[in-house]
Amino acid sequence: MAPSKPTYTKVSQKRIVSRVRKAARKSTRTLGAGLTRLYTDPTLAGIHFFYQDDKGVPIALVKQTTGGKTLQPTVLQENTFDACKWKIVKKPRYYGGAWPPTSADDLGTPAKEEHCYVCGENNAPFECDYPTWVAVMRNFWINKICISLTPDKGYATFARTGLKKRTVLGELIGELITKSMCTSDDEAYYAEIYMGEWRRIKGELTPHQPKCTIDTKHESSWLRFTNHSCNANAEFVVGRVGMCRRVLYVITTEPIAKGEEITIDYGTDYFNPGDTCRCGAKDCRYPPESDAESRANLDVDTMDDDQIEADPSAQVGFEATKPIFISDSQPDNELPDNDSEYFP
Ligand SMILES: C[S@@+](CC[C@H](N)C(=O)[O-])C[C@H]1O[C@@H](n2cnc3c(N)ncnc32)[C@H](O)[C@@H]1O
Ligand SMILES: [Zn+2]
Ligand SMILES: [Zn+2]
Repeated sequence: MAPSKPTYTKVSQKRIVSRVRKAARKSTRTLGAGLTRLYTDPTLAGIHFFYQDDKGVPIALVKQTTGGKTLQPTVLQENTFDACKWKIVKKPRYYGGAWPPTSADDLGTPAKEEHCYVCGENNAPFECDYPTWVAVMRNFWINKICISLTPDKGYATFARTGLKKRTVLGELIGELITKSMCTSDDEAYYAEIYMGEWRRIKGELTPHQPKCTIDTKHESSWLRFTNHSCNANAEFVVGRVGMCRRVLYVITTEPIAKGEEITIDYGTDYFNPGDTCRCGAKDCRYPPESDAESRANLDVDTMDDDQIEADPSAQVGFEATKPIFISDSQPDNELPDNDSEYFP
């Protein structure tokens, strides 16, 4: 007799949350198992994000209001792609590969010179497998990160345990779209990534590579909630997972303490004139007016002439699509010290 198919009772995420709360009282291990259930239950259709307390216990569904509409972002495991939308798009200049693309993999065909942040230089085939990467990263998120609400920046992401410098936090996931599909309403949730096969000149990869947009507004990974700081502790890096596909990773740039907010420098183009940054950094580039004024007064009072020089670090903007190639000229600090740093 053929084995009967497993049957699932349809449950709501809210019902699972009450079980997770009970589980959380027992131990962090049972909390982890409960959160895994919350975010992976096979009976749940759109799995919504919950914001949490500092221990990781879910409090309530993430709800946002934009343009008069309520938005409840859902969890996405990998980039999505709508072939119908891409069919009518003109082939971009320098795009390598068949056009129009028919899958997310067509757009993210990596070259071997692109950096694989999963195995570093070792090319271990197991760890470079994309489903393994997805599972490991989900496990990391569920056990080490929490999404919380802040008074002035909306939701934000925090470390629930200490994290070492150069820890891979995960992948920024969303729908892959082109510039022509972008709207000004959603631009706060856009990031860019190179698309297609790498263009080569005389066998060497060139930096002239077209980009597409990852739209993270409605469906994404937890990294969608990571805010900007002018003195960030994590950064975007374009790399590959094995030879499967090109992805946008986020990596810590310094050790992060338990309870500390995880932040990324969104770059010099993100804030428009008049926008205010609430990162609170001493050298914030777009501070609230009152801070800017008091800082100007402080500058007049305390700065010597020789201190009033251009600060080179203030000029460095974030380049989301900066290619990280494995090459002899690459500084050591760009490469992982060892594989274990990337996996909890
Ligand atoms: C990618 S989202 C980050 C998650 C966002 N806080 C949320 O609740 O969905 C980017 C938006 O977060 C807010 N944000 C992020 N960093 C900020 C900062 N340093 N100062 C003020 N607002 C910030 C801005 O509204 C920005 O458009
Ligand atoms: Zn690899
Ligand atoms: Zn700032």
